[in-house]
Amino acid sequence: MRHLVSLTQYLVEQQRGKGKISGELRLLLEVVARACKRISLAVSKGALADVLGEAGTNNVQGEAQKKLDVIANETLLEANEWGGHLAAMASEEMEGVYSIPNRYPRGEHLLLFDPLDGSSNIDVNVSIGTIFSVLKMPEGVSEPTEAHFLQPGSRQLAAGYAVYGPSTLLVLTVGDGVAKFTLDRETGSWTKTADHVRIPHKTSEYAINASNARHWEPPVRRYIDELVAGAQGPLGKNYNMRWVASMVSDVHRILTRGGIFMYPRDNRDPGKAGRLRLMYEANPMAFLIEQAGGAATNGVQRMLDVQPTKLHERVAVFLGSKEEVERVTSYHQS
Ligand code: AHG
Ligand code: MN
Ligand code: MN
Repeated sequence: MRHLVSLTQYLVEQQRGKGKISGELRLLLEVVARACKRISLAVSKGALADVLGEAGTNNVQGEAQKKLDVIANETLLEANEWGGHLAAMASEEMEGVYSIPNRYPRGEHLLLFDPLDGSSNIDVNVSIGTIFSVLKMPEGVSEPTEAHFLQPGSRQLAAGYAVYGPSTLLVLTVGDGVAKFTLDRETGSWTKTADHVRIPHKTSEYAINASNARHWEPPVRRYIDELVAGAQGPLGKNYNMRWVASMVSDVHRILTRGGIFMYPRDNRDPGKAGRLRLMYEANPMAFLIEQAGGAATNGVQRMLDVQPTKLHERVAVFLGSKEEVERVTSYHQS
């Protein structure tokens, strides 16, 4: 019989065998995975469970919340608040920091998440996901505040996402490469289905929302013009384009077969440094991509070195196959 490794076994090996994670972090990751299993169930029931459509509220970023944005957020909060593994949580769907209630013990970790990524795809039955990032609470702090979350991505202890697609997958890094786990819907267990994921350095596939082309800045314009010029252009080969509009799915494709994903800053709203959020979208994805041998920048700087200044800060994102990320980054630098 094929030897199957469960998520639990993988995490125990990371803790006991390799010493990469603490017991508390192992519990945290198990709990996040369990919450994702619940979210996956709600997603798969769809209209049968009345989870599609608008919630009728707005989040702090002024975006209309879908029912599943709210359900996923609450699922993650409820699952994580009582185990004693966290000091606080922060989410796309909550303005401020969520401190662990006094009735529960507090742990030494901080958890950030985008509970439901790809909200515009919920109602059309296209893959969506959950993204999460784990930081350590600074030593000697008793009351966590937003300031304690503002650590560069290089300080993440773990990061990952679940993708609710034809299969439900959990993709995880604890700084020891990237592993993929598939949810077995019959047994309810996460089974490791890939490990030591590597992104090819070269690619001929790119992802960008080209409807924003007229708003792009010159380096992005130049790069996309070269990609579109194909074999007749300076890059001398043809490129193909894909855009799911769920970051989780676009990044998942890149982790699986390579590619470059871009959500640049543009001139639509000069006050916004891009669309995606640094702390719970860009940083966890950048950690995964680097662990798989790829690269991630904000156009000028390594993503994981960016010093956050606000919880919900936005950032330009270029990530994926190294050669192409380095190329578009060099166009910004020159
Ligand atoms: P969210 O649903 O969490 O707000 O994130 C949506 C993000 C991301 O998943 C995706 O890459 C991007 O928005 C799509 O943006 P456009 O609709 O501008 O293409
Ligand atoms: Mn998102
Ligand atoms: Mn979201």
